Amino acid sequence: MVRSITGGVLILLVAFGSAITLFPAAEGAVTQGKSRPAETKYLMRGAVQPNCAAIGKMFKEAAPADEKAWETLACHASLLNELGYVLMDDGRCPDKTWAEAAKTLKDESAKVLAAAKTKNLDEAQASFKAMTGACAACHKAHKK
Ligand code: HEC
Repeated sequence: MVRSITGGVLILLVAFGSAITLFPAAEGAVTQGKSRPAETKYLMRGAVQPNCAAIGKMFKEAAPADEKAWETLACHASLLNELGYVLMDDGRCPDKTWAEAAKTLKDESAKVLAAAKTKNLDEAQASFKAMTGACAACHKAHKK
């Protein structure tokens, strides 16, 4: 009797334990990767948003006017491109919507970068606009 109660308690504990470890893992896929400490919101706040806003500001105020400005654009686009890879790393990606948005971020930022290298403003702006579609698509599905 004592033994079967102990057994039951043990089974309950094991079941509880796996439920507790399973749920944060599913949640963690969106808000944080599986092994690295950076939370998604800090990647967004500290890296994705500033680089995106800097490009937006640049196009709003004036077209890149000199070598340095085009290089600054190339720098922001490069960072956004790398972040597209980061968002797919460490088990962070939970589904197809996320994967597609990350791919759009990568593809379109690469086009912005290419346009910055050839100083093609129209192409840079069009690709930037397409790139921001990735922000909206992923947020609609995954940002609370
Ligand atoms: C593949 C998915 C994905 C893409 C692409 C993405 N985001 Fe996010 N973003 C998220 C998620 C998920 C959150 C919410 C994170 C949380 O609160 O835990 C978020 C949150 C944010 C936040 C709020 C951060 C904070 O301070 O709490 C900002 C700002 C942001 N994103 C900007 C952007 C911009 C700008 C882009 C496009 C250049 C972008 N994001 C692209 C997934 C994405």
